[in-house]
Amino acid sequence: MTMNKKVLVVGGGGRCHAIVKALKRSPRVDKIYCAPGNAGIAEDAECVAIGVEDVDAIVNFVRSNGIDMTVVGPEAALAAGLVNALEAEGLKAFGPTKEAARIESSKEFAKQIMAKYNVPTAAYEAFDDFDKALEYVKSRPLPAVIKYDGLAAGKGVVVAMTYEEAEAALRDMLLDESFGKGRVVVEDFLDGPEFSFMCVVSGNKVYPLAMAQDHKRAYDGDKGPNTGGMGAYSPVPFVTDEIRETALKEIIQRAADGLAAEGVPFKGVLYGGLILTKEGPEVIEFNARFGDPETEVVLPRLESDFYDLIEAAVEGRDCETRWSDDAYLGVVLASEGYPGSYKKGVEIKGLDKVNAEVYHMGTKRDGQKILTAGGRVLMVVGKGKNLEEANAAAKAEIEKIECPSLFHRTDIGKASL
Ligand code: AMP
Ligand code: GLY
Repeated sequence: MTMNKKVLVVGGGGRCHAIVKALKRSPRVDKIYCAPGNAGIAEDAECVAIGVEDVDAIVNFVRSNGIDMTVVGPEAALAAGLVNALEAEGLKAFGPTKEAARIESSKEFAKQIMAKYNVPTAAYEAFDDFDKALEYVKSRPLPAVIKYDGLAAGKGVVVAMTYEEAEAALRDMLLDESFGKGRVVVEDFLDGPEFSFMCVVSGNKVYPLAMAQDHKRAYDGDKGPNTGGMGAYSPVPFVTDEIRETALKEIIQRAADGLAAEGVPFKGVLYGGLILTKEGPEVIEFNARFGDPETEVVLPRLESDFYDLIEAAVEGRDCETRWSDDAYLGVVLASEGYPGSYKKGVEIKGLDKVNAEVYHMGTKRDGQKILTAGGRVLMVVGKGKNLEEANAAAKAEIEKIECPSLFHRTDIGKASL
């Protein structure tokens, strides 16, 4: 096993901070760079000022610094073809090509793969014509789920309780083109608790990670608008071993096999956003990357070597993983106004007093000060022997952080506590 690896992590949020911390624990890694990183990541890696979609600059950096492995965090970098460009130069990259990443970037492509390879998901149709979409919605039961077909940072989904709401959403996405030239997927509503099943995938090989549950809505009680995710925890007690096995075989393995059969083999993290219906687990969405904030509660539970796992996937080898029984529960501190508009540049105090892992999601350093620099700003992750302990730890430590412009949910993990 070769040592002294140099790794570049592409991204600058909490997920990348968790990836950097997991790599730091690997005895095989001795240098970690992060592009562009943030104020917290800078404590754990050397940050380089390159944007995640600046493909040429990243490829140049990897070549000229002798990087052994590039780990790509955000979907925008995947969709920009970063992995394709690195591989074209013979450089190792953990993440799917932009063709395979369409499982996330195109909802319609994802639905086609699921239909063809028998992956359980809601019935759907795709439209670019407003009148036809509206006619279809009216032919289906309520609620109706309307999804913009493209990347919309987790905000392009409307669960419409009435036909008027559905019409307004279709108008927004197809006629007003709020996210760009529009196409939508309209699908049936699935009922049940949601969970996130992330698996490292290499062609037909699947290496499952620990389960997590995210909290997409902005406010307590699952109220308010959809966000990128306001908190997460792992393990998820309601996902029994039996449900996990079903999800592994009937969802992740079938999707991986399907992508390989279509000539777009997947390499990287295939993230199943799943819902536990009365009929069993079904797919809400696939992502082509680590989830944020799930990664911050899942990777700390990995006891085996994270670099080995990534390298195994890139080289197509088998790899056993080991997981701790500890529980992790993390709460996101977000800027007041998020996911709408919010203020940036507000000072955060008290971070040095916090006795828990703090992942930086959107922060910036200004001399000695740490400032807010995004919608989701920090994630405080409590650890314990069980979720109750992890929850108590997270709650106690959050109190130490002083920043007038941050808010957070107080009910993360409630379904499992
Ligand atoms: P997505 O961006 O596709 O993950 O959707 C965001 C959120 O919308 C999900 O986390 C669900 O809460 C909700 N959602 C999406 N599709 C469905 C569906 N078919 N049935 C019920 N809820 C859904
Ligand atoms: N937490 C959901 C996501 O990463 O898309």
